[in-house]
Amino acid sequence: MANSERTFLAMKPNGVPWGLVGEIIKRFEQKGFHLAGLKFMQASEELLREHYTDLKDHPFFAGLVKYMSSGPMVAMVRYGLNVVKTGRVMLRETNPADSKPGTICGDFCNQAGRNVIHGSDPVESAE
Ligand code: TYD
Ligand code: MG
Repeated sequence: MANSERTFLAMKPNGVPWGLVGEIIKRFEQKGFHLAGLKFMQASEELLREHYTDLKDHPFFAGLVKYMSSGPMVAMVRYGLNVVKTGRVMLRETNPADSKPGTICGDFCNQAGRNVIHGSDPVESAE
């Protein structure tokens, strides 16, 4: 069923100290995407290398894994109609300079390496 589509979101190690946890949860609540699970956790470098395996040949990969493992994150699964695509629209364009005001990166970040939150894209990667 389309309404049961699920996405994986994770507030990154800068989203937590920047005090954005409540704000980001609020946006997904207001949008009507239901919470299926939530975990405050620190990911190991090993888990992150697996999570980002499609990016392993990029020059920023090592720094990405190191940064993402540097502190706790708030990971969530949310579900609802077109949640993967809509969630991405709520987050950003990958280049912060292209992220419109009103999106999470449009409002809270200015560099790709500190972009506050991970959101699955496409549906297969959310699964
Ligand atoms: P990517 O999956 O391309 O972007 P998105 O998170 O918007 O889906 O890249 C994964 C993460 O890698 C991205 O959130 C931040 C980091 N990254 C950089 O640090 N520099 C870059 O130039 C890019 C493209 C990504
Ligand atoms: Mg991505």
